[in-house]
Amino acid sequence: MTRLWIAALICAGGALLLLAWQWRQHAIAAAPMTAIVFGHENHTSVSCKTCHHNFFDETGRDSCYFCHKQRPELALTIQRDFHHLCRDCHARVANAGYDSGPLRRCDGCHDWTVTQKVVPVAP
Ligand code: HEC
Ligand code: HEC
Ligand code: HEC
Ligand code: HEC
Repeated sequence: MTRLWIAALICAGGALLLLAWQWRQHAIAAAPMTAIVFGHENHTSVSCKTCHHNFFDETGRDSCYFCHKQRPELALTIQRDFHHLCRDCHARVANAGYDSGPLRRCDGCHDWTVTQKVVPVAP
């Protein structure tokens, strides 16, 4: 009898964890997007190709952020992917001793006063 109870408890715990995980995934994808400060004039030494993968692969032409935020599978990693692209380059340039863009100053890139809800589209 106790074995059955233990098995039932483990199942219930697992189901709760799965629900919590799903809820968190949904919350990340549904979070509003903040406006980004970005100027091509500060990036003329960077090849278009470094950022505009979409000009060259089959992903299509659209705004970077919208496409990444609209597609749930991309929205889940938008923070990691863009910090990796933008912030890591700034870090590399700064480490090499040159003028670079913002690193830890969040509002150097994010304008928290302008946010937008983006409705996800089915993949
Ligand atoms: C450091 C990254 C970066 C580089 C390098 C870069 N861009 Fe962009 N580009 C962006 C981002 C980010 C946006 C979206 C800006 C926005 O929505 O506010 C954008 C938007 C655009 C747009 C308007 C949206 C679209 O996709 O049609 C055009 C056109 C464009 N870039 C062309 C270029 C060209 C041509 C080059 C090379 C000469 C270039 N960019 C280099 C990051 C970059
Ligand atoms: C129309 C949709 C679309 C547009 C527009 C778009 N992307 Fe993407 N992006 C994708 C998809 C899909 C992937 C995943 C592709 C893959 O895994 O091969 C991706 C992957 C990425 C990654 C992660 C690459 C990695 O695996 O490390 C970065 C960073 C990125 N995009 C930045 C940008 C930037 C910057 C722009 C605009 C200049 C942009 N994207 C425009 C759809 C788009
Ligand atoms: C390949 C390297 C590289 C990438 C990728 C890159 N940046 Fe930069 N960024 C720079 C450099 C270098 C500067 C400094 C330019 C200067 O001071 O003339 C800069 C400057 C900036 C600035 C500061 C402008 C100012 O007025 O001080 C902002 C904001 C910025 N980048 C945002 C972004 C965002 C957002 C992305 C990603 C979409 C991005 N950067 C991707 C290299 C990069
Ligand atoms: C070099 C530029 C840059 C810096 C510095 C930066 N971010 Fe970002 N961050 C971005 C870009 C670009 C995106 C993806 C586009 C967007 O969210 O509008 C992003 C996405 C995010 C997201 C996901 C939001 C969403 O749209 O789903 C969060 C949360 C976030 N950043 C937090 C931070 C925090 C906190 C800091 C400071 C510790 C920070 N960022 C510093 C460029 C930057």
